[in-house]
Amino acid sequence: MRSTGNLWTRKHLLGMSGLTQEEIDALLDTAVSLREVNRRDIKKVPTLRGKTVINLFFENSTRTRTSFELAGKRMSADVVNMSVASSSVKKGETLLDTLANLQAMNPDVVVIRHADSGVLEFLARNLDTALVNAGDGRHEHPTQGLLDLLTIQDHLPLLGHESFAGLVVAICGDVLHSRVARSNAIGLKTLGAEVRFVGPATLMPAQAAEAFGVTVHHRLEEGLAGAHVVMMLRLQNERMNSAYLPSVREYAEFWGLNRARLRLADPNAIVMHPGPINRGVEMASEVVDDPERSVILEQVANGLAVRMAVLYLLCGAGVRR
Ligand code: CP
Repeated sequence: MRSTGNLWTRKHLLGMSGLTQEEIDALLDTAVSLREVNRRDIKKVPTLRGKTVINLFFENSTRTRTSFELAGKRMSADVVNMSVASSSVKKGETLLDTLANLQAMNPDVVVIRHADSGVLEFLARNLDTALVNAGDGRHEHPTQGLLDLLTIQDHLPLLGHESFAGLVVAICGDVLHSRVARSNAIGLKTLGAEVRFVGPATLMPAQAAEAFGVTVHHRLEEGLAGAHVVMMLRLQNERMNSAYLPSVREYAEFWGLNRARLRLADPNAIVMHPGPINRGVEMASEVVDDPERSVILEQVANGLAVRMAVLYLLCGAGVRR
């Protein structure tokens, strides 16, 4: 394991916001060093022996929760997956009280997913334990942003780029409700990419261009033109409390990515999706399963490596003390 020196000194990972290019590089370099562990026959190293990680997910998850659990276990940490449904949260305990009680057991890192945007910042102000944001409302999902950066970085040579500078990334669909879009836009801009937000006006954050330094496009065809990376987003029905769309069928017709539309992008363009996918809504199966274009399962594999890197660095393993 190559030392990351003292490039990483943060206690928490709350978002992509505020991370420097050097910090992002340190995280990605660490993930690259660690990911060979996942290709071994015996997928276990003693790096985090004696460390404790608690996973606390208040929203559903397949990829993030499983990969944080595997990340800790493959580095020999003790990992506790707290079941919110059978916890004392259900008896009315506040979130802060729950976390204060978990902190009293002296974990090294607590990984939290929660429906409330900004809740991780609140908890970090009131707790000493290292916290990782595994997705807070529509705010941020930094480990998804990092795994997406790593996946794009892997494909830079194919895309004819040595770095992220000048790379065109189209983030398409329900941008308004997407923490993935926010974390990606922040990280990609930090690394020098050109970012487009592409979606209907009703699913676009107010003042997106000014807030994120992106260009905004309200026609999919326009947003896709010449893009090197096409990142499709899921329609987040669970975060919609009013009518944002005439119908899902009409959305799929105008905003669904199919092979014909993908031809508008760069000839070598890669297609990404954070999952879970609504097949036939934001993406046709012919694109999801296209081995030439789709890197969706590479994203998942990189998610494990990135989460190993995050736990490794937050546990202090990469810092010279
Ligand atoms: N991309 C993502 O966060 O997936 P899960 O909701 O399955 O964790």
